Amino acid sequence: MKKFIFPEDFLWGAATSSYQIEGAYNVDGKGESIWDRFSHTSGKIHNNENGDIACDHYHRFQEDVALMKEIGLKSYRFSISWPRILPEGKGKVNQKGLDFYKRLVEELLQNDIQPAVTLYHWDLPQALQDEGGWVNRDTVNYFTEYAGIVFQALGDRVPLWITHNEPWVVSFLGYAFGEHAPGIKDYAQALQAAHHLLVSHGMTVDCYRGLNLDGKIGITLNLTKAYPVTDSKKDREAAARMEAFINGWFLDPIFKAEYPQILSTIYEKEFGKSDIKEGDMEIINREIDFLGINYYTRSLVRHNAEDHLLECKAIKNEEAEYTEMDWEVYPEGLYDLLVHLNKNYTQKPLYITENGAAYPDKLGEDGRVHDIKRINYLREHFKSVHKAIEEGVPLKGYYVWSLMDNFEWAYGYSKRFGIIFVDYEDQQKRVLKDSARWYSQVIRNNGVLE
Ligand code: BGC
Repeated sequence: MKKFIFPEDFLWGAATSSYQIEGAYNVDGKGESIWDRFSHTSGKIHNNENGDIACDHYHRFQEDVALMKEIGLKSYRFSISWPRILPEGKGKVNQKGLDFYKRLVEELLQNDIQPAVTLYHWDLPQALQDEGGWVNRDTVNYFTEYAGIVFQALGDRVPLWITHNEPWVVSFLGYAFGEHAPGIKDYAQALQAAHHLLVSHGMTVDCYRGLNLDGKIGITLNLTKAYPVTDSKKDREAAARMEAFINGWFLDPIFKAEYPQILSTIYEKEFGKSDIKEGDMEIINREIDFLGINYYTRSLVRHNAEDHLLECKAIKNEEAEYTEMDWEVYPEGLYDLLVHLNKNYTQKPLYITENGAAYPDKLGEDGRVHDIKRINYLREHFKSVHKAIEEGVPLKGYYVWSLMDNFEWAYGYSKRFGIIFVDYEDQQKRVLKDSARWYSQVIRNNGVLE
């Protein structure tokens, strides 16, 4: 039997985010978020679905923590809804919102599950969007103030903090391509938003350090590896631009205090200069304790002159297996990515803060969900990171996306990523999928046996 055993204190976990699972969108004083507004606008989301109820986790968190315990999770990554804490984004604190997260954290700790908290997983208070959202520099200060309030309330009990989840998605899908809230299509605004997100990250790290708490703080980026479809110079350069677009635009400022030049030249020519204040790059470059990585797939790229900005095109690999998101299953990419990050960016601890797959799961007659493809997906990705760990990459934990089926943004409820099935037809009933049972064994064995 082959064994892929992980380091002793490896943190096996699962992840979710507030808007995707909580529901209770207008309960106990919560303010409106940009995702409430966006999903309530006709035509933005598949089937015009929304997160009003979602998995109703707000009312069922104890049952959910009990399921985490049953699976054997060592850690749970969730996010805090900013407008639950500050309905207007600033000013008056909504105590009931804070109390919800205090109860959740207590429940987790009582069950020996370490909380890992993300401060921003996309649900900006709508009141701040009305003032320009992330394009407005003031949002940077409001975010830092909000983070300070949360640190004061939970900082003594939460060991792992993540400032932002995927600032690439926030800025580009939200402000350049309009697929996510707030639905703007203006590339220059996206670049400004990206810069402000990064500055707010650095300022929040400063705020955390100032409080002398015992936990660790980092950021989560959606990262990929881009592979040229042929070995031609043009394709290789196209792949490099693709990687700069997704990874470098965030990794370079955080770890090298600069934006990647191969893109900043193109961007400046096309959109002019973003407003970057003196000292910003140093703030963004503040030392963090770890890097969180969300990895789902790789990018296969060829040169494409028709795309006048990046001159590249992501193409499909006809031989490969794809998930229901139409993302190629490519576990080797995760190994390559980890080695690349460790070699070229940071020797600090790394966490996989999200990895998983959507498949069209069905609740069977036997009351079970036989999601064998998800098990295969996870097994191969676990093996891939195991190889990186053996070669010395300091990977400390792995959060499967997602703990449960949930609101998959523009796709509504049409994509299921959970290891727990949620029956939206039957009062959000939860059923452990086969993948959750399999993951339980992985955690118990501290690795994969095959
Ligand atoms: C996000 C999640 C999302 C997942 C699958 C990540 O981009 O952080 O919120 O559900 O990918 O699309």
